[in-house]
Amino acid sequence: MSQREVWNSKIGFILAAAGSAVGLGNIWKFPYITGVHGGGAFVLVYLIAIVFVGLPIMIAEIYIGKTTLKNPVGAFKECSKGSNYFKKLAKLSPAAGFLGVLSGVLILSFYSVVAGWTLHFLFLSFKGFSGTKENIEAHFNHLYSTPSLMILWHTVLMVIVIAIILRGVQKGIEKASKILMPLLILILLALMSYSVFNGGAEKAFKFMFYPDFSKLDEEAIIQALGHAFFTLSLGMGVMITYGSYLKDKISIIKSSVIISIMDTLIALLAGMVIFPIVFSSGLEASSGPSLIFKTLPTLFAKITGGSVISVMFFLLLFFAALTSAISLLEVVVVYFVDERKWSRKKGTIVVGISIYLLGILSAIPKITVGKESVLDFLDDITTKYMLPLGGLLTILIFAYFIPIKAIKDELKLPKYLFYSFVWICRVITPVALIWVVLNKVGVL
Ligand code: PFF
Repeated sequence: MSQREVWNSKIGFILAAAGSAVGLGNIWKFPYITGVHGGGAFVLVYLIAIVFVGLPIMIAEIYIGKTTLKNPVGAFKECSKGSNYFKKLAKLSPAAGFLGVLSGVLILSFYSVVAGWTLHFLFLSFKGFSGTKENIEAHFNHLYSTPSLMILWHTVLMVIVIAIILRGVQKGIEKASKILMPLLILILLALMSYSVFNGGAEKAFKFMFYPDFSKLDEEAIIQALGHAFFTLSLGMGVMITYGSYLKDKISIIKSSVIISIMDTLIALLAGMVIFPIVFSSGLEASSGPSLIFKTLPTLFAKITGGSVISVMFFLLLFFAALTSAISLLEVVVVYFVDERKWSRKKGTIVVGISIYLLGILSAIPKITVGKESVLDFLDDITTKYMLPLGGLLTILIFAYFIPIKAIKDELKLPKYLFYSFVWICRVITPVALIWVVLNKVGVL
């Protein structure tokens, strides 16, 4: 049997995992849902969700990957063996892995289409945005109503992702992350200094950090919890898979905290890039998903240096999307490599092409499921149901089926911190997730 690949360095692992976490969720979705839910109070709930729900699951996933050295399905199979309680129930654990692999297939299929939009807008940015508000907004309307164009960019994106995954863990994922992540951070910092020095920063800061609880409803809390999953790439085995390439010496707690902080800071920075531009032009922040593809290009056309800023912005979005897309494909491929004994080449090509073909449905808005486009439908079922359910199963398996002594030996936390952590994993995180899942299914 061929040896399992490993990361070449600690920083390589951190950048790859942060690369997966930092994506369209941070730069596109976080600012607009913050806008829709009124700012500060939503950000606060989101931060609490990251600490009490996101972080424990991140630790659980990396632990499971690192100790089993397997893909999500194989890893959960392994975990269930050590269980002292509910032995029959524990046997069902691999189902959580299958759910993760299926989520990977579905998410990548539509994620790649949206990532393709960023490429289209990058291309338009080189030409520069000009004309009236209607003219500029027409770019997105044109793209969205032209499936062939969306399919073209989706093809480009999937070809790049497949090419990277074909090269393997060190030469593909790690190398791409080591190049793209530092560039992403540099671009983001440059954009933020521009934004902050061009007016609107104070209002943006207040909007994001001053909590107005009257705007906080149940929907906002569920959205914040759901987003904590999506943004950290949890609930579908990415961190299990990336954790399975770890060499022995690395602190799971430290790495999980660093990855979560990087992801959160980048989302907040993205807000500090976008909101000042929006506010300095006298607009409202609540324009929803079209904030990035309609509102911002209109503003880029007006501000000084707008064309450079817009090239940088869409490049940032593209880099962020690419490193996340890579991780989605890796999870599915490595399942076939480990469990079905396929070669990486066969796995990447067969899985990559299948997901590509499925993605075409998301690029044709006329095809609908009920009243929704396929893209919206897949986004909904994965983010609202499948990831929270996957996360719930992961934390339950981790907290109840794995012998506590093994976790204690690996995490090496001071006693009081360790027992607080166990309590959070056994009670707080599952209760929050059960509440989200029941709410979504309509039971509550
Ligand atoms: N974390 C990514 C983002 O914020 O855009 C999206 C994502 C990637 C979700 C990988 C889930 C995943 F497994």
